[in-house]
Amino acid sequence: MNAVQFKKLKGTKKIMMLTCYDYSFANALEETGMIDALLVGDSLGNVVQGRDTTLPVTLDQMIYHAEMVKRGAPNTFVVADMTFMSYQVSLEEALRNCGAVMKKTNCDAIKLEGGEEIAYLVRKLTEIGIPVMAHIGVTPQSGKLLGYSKRGREVSDAEYLRRSAKALSDSGAFSIVLENISAPLAQTITQSIDIPTIGIGSGPYCDGQVLVLYDFIGLTKNRPPFAKAYVNLRDELKAAAEAYRKDAEENVK
Ligand code: KIV
Repeated sequence: MNAVQFKKLKGTKKIMMLTCYDYSFANALEETGMIDALLVGDSLGNVVQGRDTTLPVTLDQMIYHAEMVKRGAPNTFVVADMTFMSYQVSLEEALRNCGAVMKKTNCDAIKLEGGEEIAYLVRKLTEIGIPVMAHIGVTPQSGKLLGYSKRGREVSDAEYLRRSAKALSDSGAFSIVLENISAPLAQTITQSIDIPTIGIGSGPYCDGQVLVLYDFIGLTKNRPPFAKAYVNLRDELKAAAEAYRKDAEENVK
């Protein structure tokens, strides 16, 4: 699948997306046949590196993880996140860094956090053939400025998000992540643009949903309230470790 085909999924099915950070999970997730796209999110800073924010994740680390994920899931649409300060300094630097991610990882698209103020960059990337997934609402790379609370409850913020979704879509983004925005606003945005919206904590009426893999499998200790764990791997691991110890102590082969 390419980005144009991904865009055409709007209205045909719920688009299922999970984050992923390594070869083995990517391979197993591809084998489920249930997941339309994998996102190598800079949330790897939180769930893989154990940091408080995504800010320290480097471009080289993203390239390292994204290349492994695409190798594990060669037939799945894989999106790589652009890391903090890899696209904010200048247009030239942004193009060089986005290009490096596409060249070195074999991923299918990149994702950028930001609203109407980065529409010019989305347009330029799209013109040179780099597919862009946009990301508005709670944008963790600006968490120190804007916080992490639900967005779009105030009229001016809701207007900004609506304008941003339109500007990013008009500039060529093939899809847009809506993170933690009010559900009615997510529904309005979904109905008002012709690219698929992928929601996280933004209610059920988006075109698709994305979850952080380690929340989805119940590995993270503190999940956000909207993130449902579909298996509790922390409990399963404890039970497995107990069984392993018991077998060893009883000399079971
Ligand atoms: O980094 C990430 O995992 C993300 C998703 C939460 C959308 O951006």
